Amino acid sequence: MSQVFDLYKTLAEAFGPSGREEAVRETIASLARPYVDEMQTDTLGNLICRKKGTGAERRKLLLAAHMDSLGLVVTYIEEEGVLRFAPVGGVFRGDLINIQVRFANGTRGVISYEEKTDFKDLQMHNLFLDIGASSREQAEKMVQVGDFAVFDAPMFEQNGILCGPYVDDRIGCATLLLTMAQLPEIVMDDMYFVFTVQEEVGLRGAGTAAFAIEPDLAVAVDVTDTGDLPERKYPMDCALGKGPAVKVMDHSALCTPKVRSALEEAGLLAAVPVQREILRFGGTDTAALQRSRAGVPAGAISIPTRYIHSPSEMCAVRDVEQAAVLLSKALLHTL
Ligand code: CO
Ligand code: ZN
Repeated sequence: MSQVFDLYKTLAEAFGPSGREEAVRETIASLARPYVDEMQTDTLGNLICRKKGTGAERRKLLLAAHMDSLGLVVTYIEEEGVLRFAPVGGVFRGDLINIQVRFANGTRGVISYEEKTDFKDLQMHNLFLDIGASSREQAEKMVQVGDFAVFDAPMFEQNGILCGPYVDDRIGCATLLLTMAQLPEIVMDDMYFVFTVQEEVGLRGAGTAAFAIEPDLAVAVDVTDTGDLPERKYPMDCALGKGPAVKVMDHSALCTPKVRSALEEAGLLAAVPVQREILRFGGTDTAALQRSRAGVPAGAISIPTRYIHSPSEMCAVRDVEQAAVLLSKALLHTL
């Protein structure tokens, strides 16, 4: 298994739906400690790691990846002992049929659906979560209304790709960890590696972190869609395994051109192939970073990923390795 897969697996196994990122934060903090000078958790729960620069006119460069994942929250417990739930973040109901989930306390369950409803008409409220309880009373001993659950899905590595839940964005967190490990001991600029919270529910953590840090420049690392599958709705010039993608725009941000070109230049310097990303839907922390205070020049590196937001997201190991090489070059030379 590759180092990237091992790191991904360690991070993806940690429980961390939006607003409940403690376990992911602890895992990342222990992995980041050798590479940074200071570590701090802010009020919302963002983990802010700082590598101090020694330059006289040092700038503050910020890299961000979100720790949180999609999840579910229990809203009601039926007399029969099955649970009703609401999504936390952009969960697609089609991804939920007969899959397994787990709670922070280890309780597991299967999501299924009301048979009486025609399959094509299924809405989130026609789904339920079966934890093997035979009554409401029994269910309440295991899980309460307000408890969060996450996908519990297998992970594998094969032919240079990796697959499993929460590649979005534990792979971004892994990329940041690989990047900090590649930096020399002495650097000129102050470098902030920020592991953000609550991205999946509206880029909430990145905004407060950027406000506090006041960076001179910011780059988010997250996943993006690919156009390399048959019969896609829209053409997209982005494929698995062809290198990290430099974001041009998505639905929430137009990346600052000088940041975009600095990232592309770093790709050239590092001899890493890059793709350009134009994502029609969705957004990332880039938008919140860019709009912080009076505005911050911002861009993003994206890992091309298939089946985003499903329990089986897939990306290429080499794209992740190359993203880290590109980012360390960018921090040292081009940003
Ligand atoms: Co996402
Ligand atoms: Zn994401």
